[in-house]
Amino acid sequence: MRVRKAKLPDAANVHELINSLSGDGTLLRRSFPEVCENIRDFTVAESDAGIFLGCGALHLYGPHLAEVRSIVVTPAAKGKGAGGKLLKALLEEAEAHSVACVCLFTRIPDFFFRYGFRQAERTALPDKVYKDCTKCPRLHACDEIAMARGPLPRVAVLGPTQMEESLLNILQP
Ligand SMILES: CC(C)(COP(=O)(O)OP(=O)(O)OC[C@H]1O[C@@H](n2cnc3c(N)ncnc32)[C@H](O)[C@@H]1OP(=O)(O)O)[C@@H](O)C(=O)NCCC(=O)NCCS
Repeated sequence: MRVRKAKLPDAANVHELINSLSGDGTLLRRSFPEVCENIRDFTVAESDAGIFLGCGALHLYGPHLAEVRSIVVTPAAKGKGAGGKLLKALLEEAEAHSVACVCLFTRIPDFFFRYGFRQAERTALPDKVYKDCTKCPRLHACDEIAMARGPLPRVAVLGPTQMEESLLNILQP
């Protein structure tokens, strides 16, 4: 088994697997154009024979924050190490980008505790909330746990106010 950055031809597998688990809210639904547009965020796991086993994405908000999204393995691949390998690769990618904090929302916190994530207040992650939660039908009935790894961000860049300036202050202190 190996993990590698996704390429556009992986988009169909990625899209199908994510959406197979979006009906019950395990994963956020992603449209095919959205997967294609963001394919460079994705890492895929595959068998030695090149069979697709799973995927995960790292979304960059800025140097203050990245988010692990859409991490999933096929039913046949579960429990064989692909999920852990994908998560480690995404964390290494965040490190390579010098991102301070990696966040995610999940229903299975125990899996992520193993990799250094801890529970966080969702209000401490305003970029994530603005990007997804404000458009989510379960905004006021959310059953996901917010988690973070690394120091919580002191700035946010999304939202109605002009916060880009605070990001620039970090980049050019
Ligand atoms: C979560 C998921 C990606 C894990 O992938 P996986 O390939 O089965 O996980 P691994 O085999 O790499 O497991 C790594 C370790 O995590 C543990 N683990 C796996 N799933 C776990 C879970 N749900 N809760 C707690 N621990 C878990 C394994 O026991 C293993 O521990 P070990 O190293 O001590 O043996 C996979 O179960 C999945 O696709 N779930 C459905 C989608 C989902 O819920 N994604 C998360 C959205 S935030």
